This record gives sequence, C-alpha cells and structure tokens, in this order.
Amino acid sequence: MKAIFCQPLLLLVYFVFAIHAKIYERCELAKQLDNHGMDGYQGYSLANWVCMAFFESGFDTEAVSQNKDGTSDFGIFQINSGWWCAVEDSVSENLCRIDCKDLLNADIENNILCAKRIVRDPQGMAAWNEWKTHCEGKNLSEWVKGC
Ligand SMILES: *[C@@H]1O[C@H](CO)[C@@H](O)[C@H](O)[C@H]1NC(C)=O
Repeated sequence: MKAIFCQPLLLLVYFVFAIHAKIYERCELAKQLDNHGMDGYQGYSLANWVCMAFFESGFDTEAVSQNKDGTSDFGIFQINSGWWCAVEDSVSENLCRIDCKDLLNADIENNILCAKRIVRDPQGMAAWNEWKTHCEGKNLSEWVKGC
C-alpha cells in the first residue's frame, strides 16, 4: 500500500520539476526557432539566434543572472527585467508585457515572442551583449549544421 501510494507522488514531483527545467539541444532549439519564423527575422539567420542563446544561457530555460544595475536577465535569451519583463516590486518598462518568471519554463514560445519585440528596436540583435561578442560578423554555419 505504501509503495503504491509513493509512486504517483514521485511521478508528480518529477513532472513538476520537468516542466520547469529544460536545457535544449542545439538542433532542437534551431527547429523550434525555425517553426516560429525566426530564420531571417529582421534579417538575422537562424544561426544567429542559436549562437546568441548558447552564449547567453547555454540553452538553459531556467538561467537567471543578476546585473550590476539591480535588474536580472531571464531564460534562454536572458531577457532583461528592467525593460522587457516584470519582477514583482520592481520598476520595469515591461515592454513584452510578461512576468519574468514565466520566461523560465520549458515552453519558450513567449520568450520567442519577446525576442521578436526586442530585435525590432533599432539596435537589433546588438541588444544582446554576448551576441555582439561571440556571434556578430562570424561564420555561424556550425550552429545549425546537421539540423
Ligand atoms: C563557414 O564555415 C564553413 C565550415 O566551417 C565553410 O564550409 C563555409 O564555406 C564558411 N562560409 C564562409 C562564408 O566563409
């Protein structure tokens, strides 16, 4: 009886964990991005998005990092809480109209929508420092190779 009771509970715990934490595979992410029309979006090839996500988060949907100015960056694209998403009790422009913690689950559709909003601004993908440092102007063909 005890064992029978425990098993569904473990499964439930595992399930809750699983929907929150996901580290994408390179080609898995490339496919998702392609499905959402990111290849060529605002002139940036798919490889640019994959490269940016790798250097920003290591493809980890749960990545959160703090900035010196007190804001934080959330999720696979490290979206900033000062401008794009909102954290409770702190000031944000919240231009993507989203709660920052909703950017941390395995479903990255909302992250993609917000990234599209970000890249429509004049600076384009230069909004992402890691993209400027590691991806801009480079031969990025390896990032989508075999996908
Ligand atoms: C980029 O690199 C790949 C292989 O690493 C190579 O085949 C390709 O010709 C390169 N493209 C350019 C534009 O240099």
